[in-house]
Amino acid sequence: MEKKFKRTTVTSALPYANGPVHIGHLAGVYIPADIYVRYLRLKKEEVLFIGGSDEHGVPITIRAKKEGITPQDVVDRYHTLIKDSFKEFGISFDVYSRTTSKTHHDFASSFFKKLYEKGEFVEQTSEQYYDEETKSFLADRYITGECPHCHAQGAYGDQCEACGTSLSPTDLINPKSAVSGSKPVMRQTKHWYLPLDKHEAWLRKWILEEHKEWRPNVYGQCKSWLDMGLHPRAVSRDLSWGIPVPVEGAEGKVLYVWFDAPLGYISNTKELLPDTWEKWWKDKDTRLVHFIGKDNIVFHCIVFPAMLKAEGSYILPDNVPSNEFLNLEGDKISTSRNWAVWLHEYLADFPGKQDVLRYVLTANAPETKDNDFTWKDFQARNNNELVAVFGNFVNRSLVLTQKYFAGKVPACNELLEADKHLLEELASAKEKIEKSLNLFKFREAQKEAMILARIGNKYLADTEPWKVAKTDMERVATILNLSLQLVANLAIAFEPFLPFTSEKLREMLNMDGFDWNNLGDANLLVAGQQLQKPALLFEKIEDEQIEAQVQKLLDTKKKNQEENYRANDIRPTVEFTDFEKMDLRVGTVLDCQKVPKADKLLQFTIEDGLDKRTIVSGIAKYYQPEDLIGKQICFMANLAPRKLRGVVSEGMILSAENADGSLSVVTVDRAVKPGSEVK
Ligand code: MF3
Ligand code: ZN
Repeated sequence: MEKKFKRTTVTSALPYANGPVHIGHLAGVYIPADIYVRYLRLKKEEVLFIGGSDEHGVPITIRAKKEGITPQDVVDRYHTLIKDSFKEFGISFDVYSRTTSKTHHDFASSFFKKLYEKGEFVEQTSEQYYDEETKSFLADRYITGECPHCHAQGAYGDQCEACGTSLSPTDLINPKSAVSGSKPVMRQTKHWYLPLDKHEAWLRKWILEEHKEWRPNVYGQCKSWLDMGLHPRAVSRDLSWGIPVPVEGAEGKVLYVWFDAPLGYISNTKELLPDTWEKWWKDKDTRLVHFIGKDNIVFHCIVFPAMLKAEGSYILPDNVPSNEFLNLEGDKISTSRNWAVWLHEYLADFPGKQDVLRYVLTANAPETKDNDFTWKDFQARNNNELVAVFGNFVNRSLVLTQKYFAGKVPACNELLEADKHLLEELASAKEKIEKSLNLFKFREAQKEAMILARIGNKYLADTEPWKVAKTDMERVATILNLSLQLVANLAIAFEPFLPFTSEKLREMLNMDGFDWNNLGDANLLVAGQQLQKPALLFEKIEDEQIEAQVQKLLDTKKKNQEENYRANDIRPTVEFTDFEKMDLRVGTVLDCQKVPKADKLLQFTIEDGLDKRTIVSGIAKYYQPEDLIGKQICFMANLAPRKLRGVVSEGMILSAENADGSLSVVTVDRAVKPGSEVK
């Protein structure tokens, strides 16, 4: 049997105050959470919506160092920017605070202390890299070196960004401290661990048996973690930015960011409701729901619940609706590569169109798999759905009412078949939308709401009040009365999804407020009620606007390629004797042909001064073979012969690689005798 709850605490992942927020954040977490909360509020349920910025962690300190400012400066800047963006998009938090607040520091600190005193941690000493120059331990991100897999320079202690492999600091070849540049040494350090292995049994039962209803992606990830076996997790770090570990002898250590951040949900509630916060977190009649992205699943389903359980007086989440990722025009959204649609930039480019983005992101929500945002789809959904269906229906209903009834709601008279059909559809919509919302299926719910608008559009097209007006005004009154009732229903049904649009509608219809329980009611507006002058809800988005956005992304792509190119490190110094080992020469191309069945390769016949030689080169994509015949090119003459696609290549043609990866053959500025040395 389903449990009845008295109230719901809804949290949404605290974004890192390390950069602005983009459409991926909105689509993954904040729009779904906001839809859900608005829906519960409309149902007059007791609900609290908690948000805030996550302001600790190593990346924030790295960013500060790079910019020559303090970590506090970094988080001050982004906390404000993020908070404003959410507000602009109507994300209706009851509180949006931050983890650098005093309330949070005090709360997280005493939470740790309580667990410490209860003996819920284990202490362990391990070896870690230490920077003797700055006298500090080095976080994984603060150590760089050569990647053991792809041998790129500048790989981080936790990951090589060139090949994507995750690493530990001891994997790096020639590790260097990113702080001082010095060679780090190994030193012993003590940390506190949450022994997840001791929590495994109840976690297994609680998730795998009692929460089979969680989304398959969430349940599946939990299951695979549990099946691999849980291990103790360090909850402290050697770092100066964060909440000091409140234990004697822990100088220079702070709480691990993933220990303090989720506690921010609670401390933010406490900040908002200093006297009554506990009922939102400790009462068995409260339902806790966490909205997160898929990279946060293990922390919210395993680590945080284990922390809460260890403390002993808290409730555990009832559900953790987690989304997959949203891609942008086919590529993974990336802050560092600036591959994103930033909310503050969207607002500047599309002022007043918050609901359009909300609509498109919900229509494409990555609920069950990764999804793609494209500007073309954005335009199509706006023009074909919001403008042509929703906006068109509402506008026709209101304009015709102005025209025939001076903007007053006309009376409903005798009902015909088409009217009865409309009323049936309207009556059944509530249940369908609710069912989807209760299951956190927001794209389906919005689709159901949109079906109501489609039905309205069709109703007007079928009943043609503008024609009937020539003969039967009583009939026109009925048609428009019902159309307006449907408009009022749309205003309610869409409030969770498109709050700005619903508010406009509410004003135009002179409604006092909305109540979800009235959805399906065809008597929301009383005959004789005066309406306001209609204004357009949506407007067409032209090709030029979309092209400008696409161009912006293309420019970003180009810039990234150029920067990548510049960032390529120069290889370590070599001696002249090393250089001399290579025999570089100029040769004349006597013949050049494609290598059959190898679309990258060209086969050269070169006059090398002594003889002819064959060289195979991977430049077929960039040249027509005949264009190279007669050219003087540079080649390496003493490279050990290699067989490529059955052809023995005696040397290597030198080419320059452009930023976009294209190749250009190296030639000589003036003609020389074949076989001339290059030095
Ligand atoms: N800052 C984290 C992220 O962006 C999310 C933290 S959620 C919380 O991935 F629970 F820790 F607050
Ligand atoms: Zn690598």
